[in-house]
Amino acid sequence: MLKERVLRFSGSARFAHWGHTITFLVLLFTGLTLFTPALGRVLTPLFGSHVTASSIHKVMAVFFTIIPLIALVINFKGFVEWWKDVFSFGANDIKFLMVFPLEFFGFHVEIPPQSKFNGGEKMNSVVTTTSCVLLALSGYVMWFKDAFPAGLVQWCYPIHGICMILATCMVCMHAYLGSFHPGSGESFWGMWKGTVRSDWAAHHHAKWYNEVTKS
Ligand code: HEM
Ligand code: HEM
Repeated sequence: MLKERVLRFSGSARFAHWGHTITFLVLLFTGLTLFTPALGRVLTPLFGSHVTASSIHKVMAVFFTIIPLIALVINFKGFVEWWKDVFSFGANDIKFLMVFPLEFFGFHVEIPPQSKFNGGEKMNSVVTTTSCVLLALSGYVMWFKDAFPAGLVQWCYPIHGICMILATCMVCMHAYLGSFHPGSGESFWGMWKGTVRSDWAAHHHAKWYNEVTKS
């Protein structure tokens, strides 16, 4: 039997998300060729040479910057709604974070009514976005180092490295939760096709589901 579906992510949100995912992964692997000599030996042959890896890194950096800006212009309202939700962190989000470890390990738990993004997704939004913005800012300073004071350029190297590690850890956890994790697998289709099953939405995001079905 076909189950009813509800719209979760617009075309522009999906374009921004998957565009960012592809550019993030290419930036990560090209960046890692320069990070440590051991990683360099393993990864550099994939790109031909250090010079090619560095050039790909810079081209991808431009797409990594432009893609979210295009989505922001196309759907400014959706962007504002996302951040309004992220910063409306309340008691139910804290309750969610308390039961989440049990859900993660496969136990059935009652999820307190969540808005469009649950407590964990709100934290992911803040940490990942902040690290990506810092990666971009420090990256451009390193790229055009002659235009900036030497002291600032020096700081940007550790900032770029630390943000890379932080964002990569978040993305690994996030990618697993958004794809193979049994409890949240349906959310992948939300980001892929745009819609999710109504019963999943009602269970995982009751507050949001009630709002969208009412309107
Ligand atoms: C707008 C975004 C970005 C810009 C402008 C940028 C720019 C740069 C530049 C100029 C370098 C110095 C090496 C070179 O000349 O090739 C670099 C290194 C590096 N980048 Fe990026 N980058 C960006 C985003 C990212 C992202 C998203 C990641 C990973 C998630 C990343 C990972 C790295 C790593 C691991 C290094 C090597 C750092 C080291 O040698 O310690 N970058 N980046
Ligand atoms: C293969 C890798 C990835 C998969 C499978 C994936 C999957 C998903 C899914 C299914 C959602 C929607 C969750 C919901 O229903 O609310 C989502 C949201 C999101 N994704 Fe990804 N994603 C991946 C990579 C990335 C990367 C590389 C970034 C950023 C650098 C990112 C940033 C976000 C953000 C900020 C959200 C909204 C907040 C949240 O739901 O956690 N994702 N992702």
